Amino acid sequence: MKETRSTSAGLDLHLELSPTRPRSGLEAALRDAVRGGRLAAGTALPASRVLARDLGVSRNTVAEAYGQLVAEGWLAARHGSGTWVAERAGQVAAAAAAPGPATARGPRYDLRPGVPDVAAFPRGAWLAAARRALAVAPADEFSYADPRGLEVLRVALAEYVGRARGVATTPDRIVVCAGFAQGLELLCEVLRAAGTRTLAVEAYGHPGHRGIASWTGMRVAAIPLDERGADVAALPAGTGAVLLTPAHQYPLGAALAPERRREVAGWATRTGGVVIEDDYDGEFRYDRQAVGALQPLAPEHIVYGGTASKSLAPGLRLGWLALPERLAGEVADAKRITGRLNGSLDQLALAEMIRSGDYDRQVRRSRVAYRRRRDRLVGALARNAPGVRVTGIAAGLHALVRLPAGLAEEGIVASAAARGLAVQGLAGSRVGEQDVGPALVVGYATPPAHAFSAAVARLCAVLREAVRA
Ligand SMILES: Cc1ncc(COP(=O)(O)O)c(C=O)c1O
Repeated sequence: MKETRSTSAGLDLHLELSPTRPRSGLEAALRDAVRGGRLAAGTALPASRVLARDLGVSRNTVAEAYGQLVAEGWLAARHGSGTWVAERAGQVAAAAAAPGPATARGPRYDLRPGVPDVAAFPRGAWLAAARRALAVAPADEFSYADPRGLEVLRVALAEYVGRARGVATTPDRIVVCAGFAQGLELLCEVLRAAGTRTLAVEAYGHPGHRGIASWTGMRVAAIPLDERGADVAALPAGTGAVLLTPAHQYPLGAALAPERRREVAGWATRTGGVVIEDDYDGEFRYDRQAVGALQPLAPEHIVYGGTASKSLAPGLRLGWLALPERLAGEVADAKRITGRLNGSLDQLALAEMIRSGDYDRQVRRSRVAYRRRRDRLVGALARNAPGVRVTGIAAGLHALVRLPAGLAEEGIVASAAARGLAVQGLAGSRVGEQDVGPALVVGYATPPAHAFSAAVARLCAVLREAVRA
């Protein structure tokens, strides 16, 4: 039965509905209409009550069909504003039309930590910044450049990290690198070559960073953690350098306490040791006044590391180090000798984003969006997953979801995977003897906006069932 219906919203919908399976028929018809371009992005759909009446089906049938299509990304909805064809429905259509099984593209829902909402990358602002920057860049910028990075970007970064994070530095001490990961690699190489053998790391941390340190020949030793961050009074014997996440301990979430900040800065000054500050999500603090950088306590001994991986996208591979004078030249030499220079075009665009204020605007927008997601996650877990405890949420893009005693991380990760949801257990972040118990590190930034509610609902269902069982 093919029918063209004129709804009370004034929208003509050509819908083919099966009388026996109206809900799936309606879903398929709407999908076809979006896929075929007959319903353009942004088109408002009739209220479920109106469409139900026009089609002669129940209101629930329409509401459920809308809900399913919102979860799939074809439609978008907001309470009080109705339902419309999603802006990114074209991409969903392309993905749906792409050959190969959906699983080849990764899990359907992803709540692992580490990646922001890359669908929200500010393409327009980036393009505009790149165009403006390219129009005026001197030809020299396209040649082999200073291994520390383009001056225009180092000037912008020195101003930015000083203003936004309280870092005490100058453009000649900034080294641009391919993400914090490359900055850490360069530092470890330089420190190792100068005789440092042991890098102390937090008892829970980024496994990739331990891998980088080991790759360069460093021995890695664990510093215990508690609710005040790393216990820096207990640095392992032989420590020559310390890697810390002072603003928001990764992944447990504490901020390094003021007396510990002073303690570790004092240790570095006294011993000539080096502190590496990984400020990976320092811009994203929600509940208190911003926790500033550790670096200004001892700028000649603390290396500050920042990244665009959370604020813009990890695919840019853009990070920055603010270095003590004695290390800046050596790190730049290591970059130059091994040819690990960054491309000029992205540096020019980032410099212009910062200079124009677009970078700050993007950070502020993302902060609001991620805070909302965090609140929705915490609310949903409180209502639907009794027994779990959420901590570490004052900042960043992830939460620590502590599991009730007796629940194993692996079991939860496996049953989530069986439902198309990727989650990460805490155990993989652990370095030494300290064990804070089973937990999930839930990254709430990764799913695109249209999939967030469904991803959280699945997580809650997995946890609820596990607790019940
Ligand atoms: C603890 C930590 N540090 C740093 C980063 C950023 O790394 P990069 O700048 O190499 O992308 C991440 C990203 O996930 C992280 O989790």
